[in-house]
Amino acid sequence: MFKITEPEYVLMKKYIKEHCGIHLEKDKEYLIESRLSDLLVDTGCRSFQEFHLRARTKDQTGALRDRIVDAMTTNETSWFRDKNTWDYVREVAVHQLLSRAAETGRARVWSAAASTGQEPYGLLMFLDEAARERGQPSLLDRIDIMATDISHSALTTAVGASYDSIAIHRGLPEATREKYFVKSGKSWVFDQEMKSRVRFERFNLQDDFMFPDHFDLILCRYVSIYFSDTFKRELFAKMAGVMKPRGIMLLGATESLREFSNDFEISYYKNTVINTRK
Ligand SMILES: C[S@@+](CC[C@H](N)C(=O)[O-])C[C@H]1O[C@@H](n2cnc3c(N)ncnc32)[C@H](O)[C@@H]1O
Repeated sequence: MFKITEPEYVLMKKYIKEHCGIHLEKDKEYLIESRLSDLLVDTGCRSFQEFHLRARTKDQTGALRDRIVDAMTTNETSWFRDKNTWDYVREVAVHQLLSRAAETGRARVWSAAASTGQEPYGLLMFLDEAARERGQPSLLDRIDIMATDISHSALTTAVGASYDSIAIHRGLPEATREKYFVKSGKSWVFDQEMKSRVRFERFNLQDDFMFPDHFDLILCRYVSIYFSDTFKRELFAKMAGVMKPRGIMLLGATESLREFSNDFEISYYKNTVINTRK
C-alpha cells in the first residue's frame, strides 16, 4: 500500500471534495491509502503527488476521476435498512403515493443515493404489494421512480439487478425473494418487468437540480453523513426546492435536518424521523 504524506493528503482531500462532495476529516489518510493504492499501481504513478497531478492535468475524458470517485464512495446498502423507516414506507408512504397517483394521475419518487438498487427496488416491491391489495395493480404504471447515484460501478449493479447470495440475504425476507427474484446460477435476478419501472441515472448531488417535475417522496439515505455542514445545508435546500408541498423526505437513521434546514416539519413514526416539506 502507498503511504500518503501530509501535503499529498491535503491535495487529494481537496480533489475528492470537489468531485463528489465527500468531506474527509483529519486522520483519514488510511482511507485514501487503502482505497486508492491499487489505482496508483494501475496508472503507473509512484506517489500520490504524481497521481494527483495526473488526475488534475491528464484526465481529459474524466475516466480517472470516475475511478477515484468510485473507489472513494461507500456503497454499503441492504434490503429494507432500518426496520422502522421501512415500516413507515410500507404502512404509510406507499399508500399515500398510490392515492396521489389515483387522484392526480402521477406520483414521483427519487432515490437520491440509490447505490446498488436495493432501496428503489425495495420501495417498488412495497408499492406493488400495496397496489395489488387495493385491487388496482395498474396504479403502479402511474408512479415514476428515479434512482440516481454518482458511482458508476454501483449503478452498473443496480441496472443489472443481479445479486449474489450475500447481497440477496441482507434483509430480504425469503417470501419476498421467491416472489420477485429468479435464481440464475449463483445469483438472484430481480423480475425484469418490475426492474423496468425504475429509471437509473448517474447524478452528482453537487450538481444543480433541474428536474421537470417535483417529487412526492425523496429517499436521501446515508449519503449526507459524508458531506460537510455547508454542503448539507445546500443539499437540503436543493431537495426542498424540488419537492411538492407536504412531500416527504426520509434520511438515514443517523442523519438529521436539524441545524441544516427550516424547510421541513419534523415528526415521528415508530421512532423514525419523517421530514415533511412545509
Ligand atoms: C452508503 S450508500 C447509501 C445507499 C442507500 N441510500 C442506503 O441507505 O442503503 C451512499 C451512496 O451515496 C453515493 N454518493 C456519495 N456521494 C455522492 C454524490 N455526491 N452524489 C450522488 N451520490 C453520492 C455513493 O456512491 C453511495 O452509493
